[in-house]
Amino acid sequence: MNQDKILVVGAGGQIGAVLTEALREAHGPDNVIATDLRPLENQSGPSEILDALDGNALAELVKKYRATQIYHLAAILSATGEKNPMWAWDVNMRSLFNVLEVSREQQLSKVYFPSSIAVFGLQAAPAMTPQYTVLIPETVYGISKVAGENWANYYYRRYGLDVRSVRYPGIIGYQSMPGGGTTDYAVDIYHYAVQGKPYECFLRADTPLPMLYMPDAIRATLQLMEAPAANLSVRTSYNLAGMTFNPGEITASIQKEVPDFRVSYKPDFRQAIADSWPASIDDSAARKDWGWKPEFDLDAMTRDMLLHLREQYSV
Ligand code: NAD
Ligand code: SER
Repeated sequence: MNQDKILVVGAGGQIGAVLTEALREAHGPDNVIATDLRPLENQSGPSEILDALDGNALAELVKKYRATQIYHLAAILSATGEKNPMWAWDVNMRSLFNVLEVSREQQLSKVYFPSSIAVFGLQAAPAMTPQYTVLIPETVYGISKVAGENWANYYYRRYGLDVRSVRYPGIIGYQSMPGGGTTDYAVDIYHYAVQGKPYECFLRADTPLPMLYMPDAIRATLQLMEAPAANLSVRTSYNLAGMTFNPGEITASIQKEVPDFRVSYKPDFRQAIADSWPASIDDSAARKDWGWKPEFDLDAMTRDMLLHLREQYSV
């Protein structure tokens, strides 16, 4: 079997930083090339500067490293996107087209493109949202993910390009900071708790959202990408679920370990985005097709987050 060579686009982000290291463990450090807009530090394998909007530069890197797969993680997320919708649309769509086109032209074996719970809007079922439902998102980010999912499906059906995707919920991890999403509070809150500071939450206490702990998110991604193509019935993007909680519940979970921790609530424009997303997701297609099963619940995640962040902050 030929060794895969994997190009990661947006490798410096919240998910990219962790996923790149996991891919290097699985495929060997030299076989995973990390790329981002800015130089990446502390890399255990090759890295390059790449603006994914530059299709020629992307094509050159694919040639240079004889890449066989691309993991496309570069995107403008929900909250940042609402501040500049045209820019978010341009970055999210043009970078995806560059990845899909170079993958088609150079006949790459697989492409990974994450979608999001942001594809759902107020018309979708607010709980246990099914795999196939009405997709009318409220954000430009969500619109770009719905369009992206359909283009992924189109490239698969029209050109046979093996594009795979999951709709991540809000991702929480200690290794990296989030990059401008509506679920970012659920990472920030742990950093404040560990430093003994009170936290002001930008969502109301009773706002439930689907969330997933980083180790589960990475495992899901690798599991999907390793699954036999014949098992995959969804070529837009798989629903993926881990846990559901609201800011009040994550606060209570942290207070079991840090009893003095205090949170106040000052909802901003992100409240309307969160209110347009479902509270929970039906991920039975992912479970059936490629054996998905999350391992972490809220309290298990809290214990693990606090353990690692206490090490990071030396407290
Ligand atoms: P992030 O914002 O933390 O990281 C994105 C990275 O892409 C950044 O390092 C940024 O520098 C880079 N980037 C931006 N524009 C670029 C360009 N033109 N060329 C090259 N790189 C560029 O995002 P993330 O949280 O790591 O998300 C990764 C993917 O997962 C995105 O597609 C996102 O939509 C999706 N996703 C994330 C979450 C989450 O909770 N983190 C949830 C659902 C979906
Ligand atoms: N966590 C992401 C966001 O809030 C969901 O895609 O934008």
